[in-house]
Amino acid sequence: KEAKLWGGRFEESVTDAVERFTESISYDKALYKQDILGSKAHASMLAKQGLITIPDRDSIHQGLSEIERRIENGEFEWRTDREDVHMNIEAALTDLIGEPAKKLHTARSRNDQVLTDFRLWCRDAIDAIGAKIKHLQVSLVKLAMENEGVIVPGYTHLQRAQPVLLQHLLLAFVEQLERDAGRLLDCRVRLNFCPLGACALAGTGLPIDRFMTSAALDFTAPMKNSIDAVSDRDFVMEFLSANAITAIHLSRLGEEWVLWASEEFGFLTPSDKVSTGSSIMPQKKNPDPMELVRGKSARVVGDLVTLLTLCKGLPLAYNRDLQEDKEPVFDSVKTILGMLEVSAEFAQNITFNRERIQKSLPAGHLDATTLADYLVKKAIPFRTSHDIVGRAVAVCVSNSCQLQDLSLDELRSIHPVFDKDVYEFLGVENSVKKFSSYGSTGSACVASQLGDWVTKLEIT
Ligand code: ARG
Repeated sequence: KEAKLWGGRFEESVTDAVERFTESISYDKALYKQDILGSKAHASMLAKQGLITIPDRDSIHQGLSEIERRIENGEFEWRTDREDVHMNIEAALTDLIGEPAKKLHTARSRNDQVLTDFRLWCRDAIDAIGAKIKHLQVSLVKLAMENEGVIVPGYTHLQRAQPVLLQHLLLAFVEQLERDAGRLLDCRVRLNFCPLGACALAGTGLPIDRFMTSAALDFTAPMKNSIDAVSDRDFVMEFLSANAITAIHLSRLGEEWVLWASEEFGFLTPSDKVSTGSSIMPQKKNPDPMELVRGKSARVVGDLVTLLTLCKGLPLAYNRDLQEDKEPVFDSVKTILGMLEVSAEFAQNITFNRERIQKSLPAGHLDATTLADYLVKKAIPFRTSHDIVGRAVAVCVSNSCQLQDLSLDELRSIHPVFDKDVYEFLGVENSVKKFSSYGSTGSACVASQLGDWVTKLEIT
């Protein structure tokens, strides 16, 4: 067996079970790029500070580039007995270039090294998720552009409430996604500080320049407190929280579309490209992608809970428990990227069934609140208007008709203030036209917001 990098004080080697149980190489090899980047920056700094020679630095750089090349060509052997990505690369570098490699770990610990790698990795992941969020927003906005003027029932309590423009509804999801992207950017700002040089926990007496490595790796600044630097995982918790919120938004979108695709609603039809069938029922066409978006949100929430629970009882500073922080992050990122991608594909492959939607609009007295507003315009206090319209609705319910079917006489028998202009307020088309407040479903308002999104998202 090869001696461990930390093996000096040990007389016996670890058991196979312990080796298998404590390894992280099986998953943290995903950090190889960041690990190499960090090591190169560290070596440059060590050379500038006179801690290693320039030829040592150059040979470390060349060796690391060669290792990166081998990894990317599948020629690199990842070894479980070398435990994690850091020791795999360092040991391979020693195999490759000999003595100079042994100087690379000067004024560095795996504790600050792993966090440098991990912050760099999360930073890239945030950018990738942000791009996918934007792509989904674009798909939703395009869907809205294709469905100008379509009125749908708006629901509260999943009961029919008021008529809204389909565009308005789609843009609601675009707004949510914008906040999701904003949360990720906030998180990115806070995580972008460099732990490298914090070493094990206390810093070092060697003359390193942490500002140099921080700048080389595009961090804002070095982290100020070395103990905090190796203990902190709140950047991970924050990142996974942001992902969890995004996942919940996507789950709600999924639920909406699954419901709308049902026979009972029938408001939308997904194309075959985004549907799957049943192994027993030949007629079935299911909206599985959006069901799985809803389902996979559970994993993303679970990943956050794993991280929170992992950190809950930990004393300062580094504890080996923290090695468990990576898989939930990898899982969360992979899952959320998939959810965003497939939601966008679904959006690009659905048709809203305008006829079916139109036919459904008369049900549910969607114009009742507009009628109450009509009475307010006639100087009736709103509470009284509410009561008058409630009585009109009761008449409709017993006659199985709509508000617009009531004659002026019938309306006047409920309250004398009704006039023939009331019919300009009844029916869903009229009702939608009356909305004018900022942020409302009124067509001018929705058109202007749609225009803003087209500009913001650079849709051509
Ligand atoms: N693989 C370890 C992790 O992910 C790296 C840090 C190990 N540090 C230590 N002192 N054992 O946390």
